[in-house]
Amino acid sequence: MAATAYPDVMDKLVSLSKRRGFIFQSSEIYGGTGSVWDYGPLGVELKKNLKELWWASMVRLRDDIEGLDAAILMHPRTWEASGHVAGFTDPLVDCKVCKGRFRADKLEDARCPQKPSRQPGQHDACQLTEPRMFNLMFKTFMGPVEESASTVYLRPETAQGIFVNFLNVQQSCRQKVPFGIAQIGKAFRNEITPGNFIFRTREFEQMEMQYFVEPGTDMEHFEQWKADRMAWHKSLGLSADRLQYHQHEAGELAHYARAAFDINFDFGGTLGFQEIEGIHNRGDFDLSQHQQFSGKKLEYFDQQANKRYLPYVIETSVGADRTTLAVLVNGYREEDVAGEDEGRVVLGLHPALAPIKAAVFPLTKKDGQPEMATRLAGELRRAFNADYDATGSIGKRYRRQDEIGTPFCVTIDSESAADQSVTIRERDSLAQVRVAMDQVRSWVQDRITA
Ligand code: GAP
Repeated sequence: MAATAYPDVMDKLVSLSKRRGFIFQSSEIYGGTGSVWDYGPLGVELKKNLKELWWASMVRLRDDIEGLDAAILMHPRTWEASGHVAGFTDPLVDCKVCKGRFRADKLEDARCPQKPSRQPGQHDACQLTEPRMFNLMFKTFMGPVEESASTVYLRPETAQGIFVNFLNVQQSCRQKVPFGIAQIGKAFRNEITPGNFIFRTREFEQMEMQYFVEPGTDMEHFEQWKADRMAWHKSLGLSADRLQYHQHEAGELAHYARAAFDINFDFGGTLGFQEIEGIHNRGDFDLSQHQQFSGKKLEYFDQQANKRYLPYVIETSVGADRTTLAVLVNGYREEDVAGEDEGRVVLGLHPALAPIKAAVFPLTKKDGQPEMATRLAGELRRAFNADYDATGSIGKRYRRQDEIGTPFCVTIDSESAADQSVTIRERDSLAQVRVAMDQVRSWVQDRITA
């Protein structure tokens, strides 16, 4: 992928994430698990906020989409029907010299470990094997006997849980086509070349929605979802110039897709534009496969038209972790502060995404200021996440909050007891306003909704 104008901030984010409790390497004390990450106290809040925004826009604010939480373990026939057992494979090549493993179809994106200026196979010493197909699904066994009859898979996408529940949801909720089913959940892929922090991992979360439509109306819905999903990413504060569509050409389409567009985000540096969401027209591939493999009719009955048919499906599939990384990359900046020697690091997160919405500081430890600040922080916590910090200079406290993306800092000072008001300082503009103490909660609340 071509380098872009945006700098590579990945190493800085990995370090900030660990230092401030956003994201830790899994099982770090044992040397870490390859490309698996744990979300710390701030990371879990950030990702939860992101998932809640998605759920609100896809389920809560619409009456044509229902929510679902299907199990990770599914009947193994599911994955035969979906095509994953036979076809969810990547071509793998090994280098006999450096023992590196690469995707044969992505060699141009990889670096030779012995000569990073070249791609694998281009250095004189490289000895690449012939490509062999490698299935990305994790296998395990259900029950006490490890035999092929008890093989189950960790799901590689959440979508199949939606397809097999299509009629359950449609009938229990009396939905009429067009309607959708949405869910958020873990997916697992034994990726050959994971990496770039939480960009490509082996365990991750997807936020997927399948929209069931009458055949013939599918491309119209597809275009609508393409536009809606792009608008959602912009509503998170992702810069418009860092977002673009990528259309899949015939050879690039997944086995189930009739048409597909990715929404790509510019991660900066050499990673550049990469997919964060896929929008696919899956036709009736999945429902007809499940109908055939299960022997159960999955047709929808259109009462008005008095006809039965298998709906086509428009899918929107976005990674919760990858989008979390996108908002971190998008928000990270270092800047000079006028009149101060030290600059500041800021995570310019949208207030709706910020893990902590407001931090309350007593200016000094005198005059009952800590007690007032503690009381105010307690009141704010009833409505949203708030922090209390009384240590270090006020400048240091501001910097600590800037670095984790807190949009508002509230200071109790020597006037507060007399005039029952506080100073609120805004993270990005650095503007300060005086607000009545009993208005702080609603003042912040008004500014943190998406
Ligand atoms: N159901 C369709 C599907 O799974 P996909 O393009 O393979 O489509 C959708 O995945 C989204 O899931 C991607 O756009 C990406 O955000 C996320 N994703 C896929 N593989 C991932 C991985 N190994 N690590 C993190 N996120 C991943």
